[in-house]
Amino acid sequence: MRLILEIWRQDRPGADGRYETHEVVDATPEMSLLELLDRLNHQLVENNTDPVAFESDCREGICGTCGVDVNGVPHGPRDNVPACGQHVRDFKDGQTVRFEPFRSKAFPVLRDLIVDRTGLDRIIQAGGTIAVDAGTAPDAETVQVTHDDAERALDFAACIGCGACVSACPNGAAYLFTGSKLAHLALIPHGKQERAKRARAMVDQMEHEFGPCSQIGECALACPAEIPLSAIAVVNRERIRAGFKKGKAN
Ligand code: FES
Repeated sequence: MRLILEIWRQDRPGADGRYETHEVVDATPEMSLLELLDRLNHQLVENNTDPVAFESDCREGICGTCGVDVNGVPHGPRDNVPACGQHVRDFKDGQTVRFEPFRSKAFPVLRDLIVDRTGLDRIIQAGGTIAVDAGTAPDAETVQVTHDDAERALDFAACIGCGACVSACPNGAAYLFTGSKLAHLALIPHGKQERAKRARAMVDQMEHEFGPCSQIGECALACPAEIPLSAIAVVNRERIRAGFKKGKAN
């Protein structure tokens, strides 16, 4: 397969960027989009040109590092699939595929397709730690969690922090991300002791760096972990609940 790749190139943060056009003539349908970029980089290196900088680690949908916009869509054409799991077979022979970094004010471009996503880390950091007794391991049944709560907490804990929800949102909101973190800790006993304090701090930090929820819902379609839109309601619920608990940790 022959594909035309339009790639965003930017040398450093704050520098002017530009699109470069390249051709890959030996792409195969089973290649992932990251393997397509690898193929392009081999060509560039063979021609003594700088390879395209992009991030990846696990290449199996776990680490959340591989986020890029593909033809204007976070991660690529398939809903709820990370860039490392998107394939060349979803494009036509001769088609142009545009790769850009995630576009959001909260994610400044570091180089080419790599953005600084530490704004998400700062939301987590604001949440602080949980006061779990770190003594001898307790018997499993001493902390009881219902099966339903455990399953729901695990569903929200599946967020891989890739930032696709922020890139998909016209307002650059991080509600889906923040809601998934708040929800999974609010559902299990270990997270209940600092529940209100954590909600206040995380929501304040989120609002400091990210935009307001657009209420459009693109974030859930882009999310590779399929975090449900109900995570957004969790942000509002935990914020209001924390307001009634003013001055209290839980
Ligand atoms: S490289 Fe880890 S999720 Fe894509």
